[in-house]
Amino acid sequence: MQPKLKSKVKFADREVGEVTRIIVDPFSREVSHIVVGGNGVGPVERQIPTDRIKMVTEDTVELGAASSELERFPLFRRDEYVTIREIEIAHLEDHLNVEPGEVLVPVPELERDVKRRTFFTYLTHVISVLLALPLVFPVLKFLMKPMYAPYDNRWIRVGNVSRLKKEDVGAQFKFKRKQKEAFMPETEVDKNVWVIKASPAVLDSVYKGKEMKFLDHKGDVIWVNKPTVPYIAYSGKCPHLGCGYKWRNVRKLGKELFLCPCHLSFFSVSGEVMGGPAPRPLDVLPIQVAESGDIQVIDIEYKAGVKERVRLV
Ligand code: FES
Repeated sequence: MQPKLKSKVKFADREVGEVTRIIVDPFSREVSHIVVGGNGVGPVERQIPTDRIKMVTEDTVELGAASSELERFPLFRRDEYVTIREIEIAHLEDHLNVEPGEVLVPVPELERDVKRRTFFTYLTHVISVLLALPLVFPVLKFLMKPMYAPYDNRWIRVGNVSRLKKEDVGAQFKFKRKQKEAFMPETEVDKNVWVIKASPAVLDSVYKGKEMKFLDHKGDVIWVNKPTVPYIAYSGKCPHLGCGYKWRNVRKLGKELFLCPCHLSFFSVSGEVMGGPAPRPLDVLPIQVAESGDIQVIDIEYKAGVKERVRLV
């Protein structure tokens, strides 16, 4: 007969309490221990192996040992066990002829080893991600496409040099540019560049006698400004924070300059920073002038607020 929950537990000399729980060996499916609690045991519970049981009756479990041995039996720790319902061992409950109550089995080793368990959890996540990758990759590629779109190297006609009567005087040319932001439809935006008819001194100051190369997103040269072409185009955006600037007579300095009203950066006609917070000179753009005098530029945009020229568009 198997011990039952609530059965009285008697040592050789006295009764100490009752069976509060039953522990089962999940492999043999036999009761391996009883857990004893009650007045004779104190505020704790102790687990006693079934091989110390002398006899089991309908409502009593008798032990051969004396009650003085009670403290030799280990304390029962609930967190080291799970109920047989929790781990769903097939038919184990049916196999045991016990009253409904807490029938326990030891927590499997794997469950106790948290590190190992965590490792398997991570492993499962990694496998899931790898399996999902073929499905997710095309979507990610589509979403990230605008980030890796090639630069817009289209030439844009902005005006004619007939407007530039005097050397070393800034003239603003306004134009419209088609622009596409990420997944938005294409729109037309108002842009402008400043163009000068440059004197040899200004050409020298800008080009230092060298050609100026412009690159595409792969680093290939798309255009070269030659220092012999006497026209220079500057991006219409101030390299400080991207405001529009103007050509102004600065009385204090007794000359005309490019002046940005946002934070009062000012630049010489050759684009050098003469004062204010701008971190670099004005950005020179690729320019070509047709025999007809038509001016075309590539409207490159550089990152504002940094010393180096970092191309954005
Ligand atoms: S944006 Fe031009 S000075 Fe700040």
